[in-house]
Amino acid sequence: MRIQASAPGKAILFGEHAVVYGKPAIAVPLSGIRAAATGIARANPLAIFAEDLAPFPLKIGGEHCDQPNPLALMACLTTKHLGATSIKGDISIRSDIPIASGLGSGAAVSAALGRAIARLHDLEIPDADLNRLVFEVEKLHHGTPSGIDNTVVVFEMPIYFVKGAGAEFINFGKPLRLVLADTGIASLTRDAVADVRSMAHCEPARIARVFDEIGNIVNEARDCIERGARDRLGALMTANHRLLQALTVSSPELDILVDAALGAGALGAKLSGGGRGGNIIALAEEDAVAAIERNLLEAGAKRVMTTVAGKGSQDDDSD
Ligand code: MEV
Repeated sequence: MRIQASAPGKAILFGEHAVVYGKPAIAVPLSGIRAAATGIARANPLAIFAEDLAPFPLKIGGEHCDQPNPLALMACLTTKHLGATSIKGDISIRSDIPIASGLGSGAAVSAALGRAIARLHDLEIPDADLNRLVFEVEKLHHGTPSGIDNTVVVFEMPIYFVKGAGAEFINFGKPLRLVLADTGIASLTRDAVADVRSMAHCEPARIARVFDEIGNIVNEARDCIERGARDRLGALMTANHRLLQALTVSSPELDILVDAALGAGALGAKLSGGGRGGNIIALAEEDAVAAIERNLLEAGAKRVMTTVAGKGSQDDDSD
């Protein structure tokens, strides 16, 4: 028996970092870039093959899943969740989501692996359960994750998210054309989150004001998304980027790409995800996409990708 499973990447449209402190944030799945797991039922104990890892068999015993490797931890948590004592077979994982670039590769790989393990047992894990398991693995990646990455990746829907309160799915008044550009610099979300935490500790009043302003932007942005008010949404994106600069999670390379997108006619642009490296996202009208992509590549982007969020929205994209 051969099974397949997958999960998408994600982009945070608004509110990263402040979301760790209880402010809202908005994220969309990137269904065009995915982590995929292929499982084959065999007699051997489960072995996982991933591009950058030697295959490893898993020992899943004892009370707790005390595994330092994220794949091993996800396999262990899933196995226990299914009530199984052992899993047999091989699972190969492939992902076209760049690693450590703010696009949710860790959460997507975990989600694809969890689904594959369940399917090897002829089962499906409900998304709510899978979300909880992936969140546990996110703690290894991020230290103190808000839970937004696992939620958008597992449910594969645009979400308005508040830590502890969960996610609301958002309706888009009009689709949004997003240009993503990669600095090519890998950056660990865990480090950026830890630095913001130190700043919040040293300058609590100033950083609390920044978080408040980000929270206000996110709430207005949700309203703009639902009404299809793209011009205002773009301005809010750029304002969110300025506040992320104040949190020191931008970088010269990210700022150059944001300016390049704006200079070529983007409605707005900001870093997306943990920052310091990784990707920017820019909001674009259709007729400006080619010029924006060109400018981004000339400004040093290692990769550009254009995607449409909220495709199922009622209005067309004609104005
Ligand atoms: C990472 O994609 C988003 C951050 O806000 C961290 C988190 O929410 O866990 C930087």
